[in-house]
Amino acid sequence: MRKSHTITISGAGSARVPALVGTLVEYKERFPLNKIILYDIDMERLQYMENYDRLVLRTFYPEVEVIVTTDPDVAYANTDFVFCQMRAGKGEMRSVDEKLPLKQGLVGQETCGPGGFAYGMRSLAAMKEMVEQVRKHSKDTWILNYTNPAAIVALGLDRMFPDDKRILNLCDQPFSLLKSFAKILEVKQEDLFPRYFGLNHFGWFTELKDKEGNDLFDKLRDFLKNHDFKPFNAEQRSKSWLDTYVRVNKYMQYFDEYIPTTYLQYYFFGPEIVAESDPNYTRVDEARDSREKEVFETCERIGKQVTMTKEDMLTNSVFGNLMVEVAESIAYDLNNEFVVLVKNNGILTNFEKDAIVEVVGTIGKDGAKGYPFGEIKPFYKGLMQAQYDYELLTVEAFMEKDYVKALQALTLNRTVIYPEKAKAVLDDLMEANKDYWTLEVK
Ligand code: G6P
Ligand code: MN
Repeated sequence: MRKSHTITISGAGSARVPALVGTLVEYKERFPLNKIILYDIDMERLQYMENYDRLVLRTFYPEVEVIVTTDPDVAYANTDFVFCQMRAGKGEMRSVDEKLPLKQGLVGQETCGPGGFAYGMRSLAAMKEMVEQVRKHSKDTWILNYTNPAAIVALGLDRMFPDDKRILNLCDQPFSLLKSFAKILEVKQEDLFPRYFGLNHFGWFTELKDKEGNDLFDKLRDFLKNHDFKPFNAEQRSKSWLDTYVRVNKYMQYFDEYIPTTYLQYYFFGPEIVAESDPNYTRVDEARDSREKEVFETCERIGKQVTMTKEDMLTNSVFGNLMVEVAESIAYDLNNEFVVLVKNNGILTNFEKDAIVEVVGTIGKDGAKGYPFGEIKPFYKGLMQAQYDYELLTVEAFMEKDYVKALQALTLNRTVIYPEKAKAVLDDLMEANKDYWTLEVK
């Protein structure tokens, strides 16, 4: 039997956590636990789910000790892994991130464009505090971070904690896309071997093979040029996600060399997306009225019961599977293959060495290692250079509280481009975020 571990779920009030708890139950042989600490600074939100989470664990994981806390010292004192998915400013600020840019005719998205910038600034402050709280107790605890925008958070944490080798930033979208590819190609996801490069939420699949080494990429490309791309991930079936997937088809009508991640749509088809968006009802509202509503209702209903069955258990989220499989791969040094976020250091030979890039690699006891990739072509390099400089200037604006760097960052962002637009949206975002971050003209 494998050695068991203690994990802390930080941001346990997230609507994604009940399914993560279900996934932990399903993986108990592969990644056995002795204690789960559910931590959130907002008890009110956590209460919706606490009874449910406790019932699931009492029923299907009785050997696990469960602690629910709002105290960071309890959360981080003796833990092996912190699974972290916090949202500084919660849904209310996600709403601002999405709506405020839209009202100025700019893309309104939680991780891309001006909304991603504002969220990035909030996340950097919250994540810095969190890493310090964890490290006060132990330098060995693994921090598996899913907090968005992962590109900015990963780069910022690398700059703020350069010697910390136990922070791993994660994104489930490449994993989600691979599941969709597997469905289309009628193969198991474990049997697909991709090549991929980019920055987080800004990358491309360049190759796809099966385990015998047969190339499946052309088949997939032909499919995507002739059929609507549909998500495998059940969480991605509401209208805005379906539209998002179909824009992969649209992108491929222009550039069919590689298969883009869904997030590239905001940089290529911004005006169309803005025109189709409703600035009074964005993804945050759609998610609240669909996924979150279902999760909260299920938790409330099941949480009142004294017993439950496996059918009542929320599970199988793509996000949950990724988090647990990554932790498993670290804990038992499995070196399983994932799309990882790592420091470039020559992986993409003609790209910034200090960038955090997203590539295929392995995860084991020393963290993530990216496979060498080689050179990238000018079109992709140019796009990535501007995006990386936007990310870097955002991190520097945060660390130095520098208004001009923030203005440069937004001007470099392909969803903004013009300084007058960058300034208008920055000034409004700064006002809306004044409880979280400030900037000064130096
Ligand atoms: C994908 C991305 C995540 C993002 C999520 C948003 O999974 O990889 O980074 O947080 O989508 O999903 P939502 O359904 O909340 O819009
Ligand atoms: Mn992501």
